[in-house]
Amino acid sequence: MCLRYVLVFILLSAASRVGDCSAKYAPDFIHPCNNTEPACLIKATQDAIPQFCKGLPHLGVPPLDPFVIDELPIQLPGIKVTFYEGKATGLRKCQVINVEAYLEKNVFILEVRCNITIKGKYTAVGRLLLFPINGEGDSKIKIADFIHPCNNTEPACLIKATQDAIPQFCKGLPHLGVPPLDPFVIDELPIQLPGIKVTFYEGKATGLRKCQVINVEAYLEKNVFILEVRCNITIKGKYTAVGRLLLFPINGEGDSKIKIVNSIIKLNINTKYFKDAEGRDHFGIKNYKYTFDYGERIVYTINNLFKGNPELSNTVLQFLNENWRIVTEEFGQPVVDFALNVTVSTAKKFFDAVPYDELLNVPIPKY
Ligand SMILES: *[C@@H]1O[C@H](CO)[C@@H](O)[C@H](O)[C@H]1NC(C)=O
Ligand SMILES: *[C@@H]1O[C@H](CO)[C@@H](O)[C@H](O)[C@H]1NC(C)=O
Ligand SMILES: *[C@@H]1O[C@H](CO)[C@@H](O)[C@H](O)[C@H]1NC(C)=O
Ligand SMILES: *[C@@H]1O[C@H](CO)[C@@H](O)[C@H](O)[C@H]1NC(C)=O
Ligand SMILES: *[C@@H]1O[C@H](CO)[C@@H](O)[C@H](O)[C@H]1NC(C)=O
Repeated sequence: MCLRYVLVFILLSAASRVGDCSAKYAPDFIHPCNNTEPACLIKATQDAIPQFCKGLPHLGVPPLDPFVIDELPIQLPGIKVTFYEGKATGLRKCQVINVEAYLEKNVFILEVRCNITIKGKYTAVGRLLLFPINGEGDSKIKIADFIHPCNNTEPACLIKATQDAIPQFCKGLPHLGVPPLDPFVIDELPIQLPGIKVTFYEGKATGLRKCQVINVEAYLEKNVFILEVRCNITIKGKYTAVGRLLLFPINGEGDSKIKIVNSIIKLNINTKYFKDAEGRDHFGIKNYKYTFDYGERIVYTINNLFKGNPELSNTVLQFLNENWRIVTEEFGQPVVDFALNVTVSTAKKFFDAVPYDELLNVPIPKY
């Protein structure tokens, strides 16, 4: 019922927008009526709906079918529901039942019958009394439905659950304040190395969502969580480099791409537990250590290392690639520190948002 009014509102407001346009710009799918007989108005409106719902970008009318709902927060008493990644479809097939226009009175009546489908995801945070009659307690609403919680801490189950969760986690969960990790945007990353200052900017790292989970161990009582993954990561962006690289004075500026194949990242996290404002338990991250094995191969594609000297640039680039392991060990550390810092702080945000009992179906130790 409510939707019908929303729809009428949308159509009316949009129609008035189209109405403002001078005849010259009126879209050609509108067949203007020569009178205000409902029969003609109904037909003209019905004819116009499919095209109109598609959107008229040149007139600033966005599509209504599908109608994308990026994020729609709804504050209800005691609960905040956020509807996101949503799509409403069906408007283009609405049946026009009645149209009346009273031009002198500035009245326009539109009645339509529609089947509308709204699909999307939602989160709900707060308390919702589902069964007020028998006074039963709060309903638990899942915040992260892509997590399949394990019923024990066997690595086999933890590995699978982690692997299943990675793609969605890497995509980001904007409604939970968790930013995307793949692609991960690097606005600017200055790297100070002995003798050379490199600034990497307008960059993008991709590949994390395809990381393979090799091992996960959770020792709940001891507050230890171990995660081992194998990843292919590509980092692309612009750079400037000033100083000396190995033996050569360098003053480069251009595009760069670094491809890391089968690197192994092992994270050893000290966890903690805490309660949120609602009294629900959460995982927390106290601190972490990591090891990073650069893997099988790193391929550098860097142009213009020496401004105006493509030959020397190519020679040095070739040298970098032939000695990729030594080279990477020299300058890789700050980059990897940065990457893991971002990953762990993203995981923190995730744990802040998603309660313990949605992550693991094992009683939480006393804390
Ligand atoms: C309005 O009148 C014009 C000219 O007589 C005619 O071509 C057109 O088809 C009419 N429009 C409608 C919707 O009947
Ligand atoms: C809505 O769906 C029902 C059942 O599928 C169908 O009978 C009806 O004609 C549809 N109405 C519209 C306006 O498309
Ligand atoms: C945990 O147990 C529940 C209930 O028995 C079951 O539905 C669920 O699939 C189990 N989870 C896993 C990851 O095995
Ligand atoms: C990384 O890429 C290599 C070569 O393309 C491929 O053999 C390997 O399976 C990939 N590893 C992962 C973790 O995706
Ligand atoms: C990691 O983050 C912490 C806290 O935000 C910060 O103090 C530290 O400098 C960061 N390290 C790197 C390498 O970015």
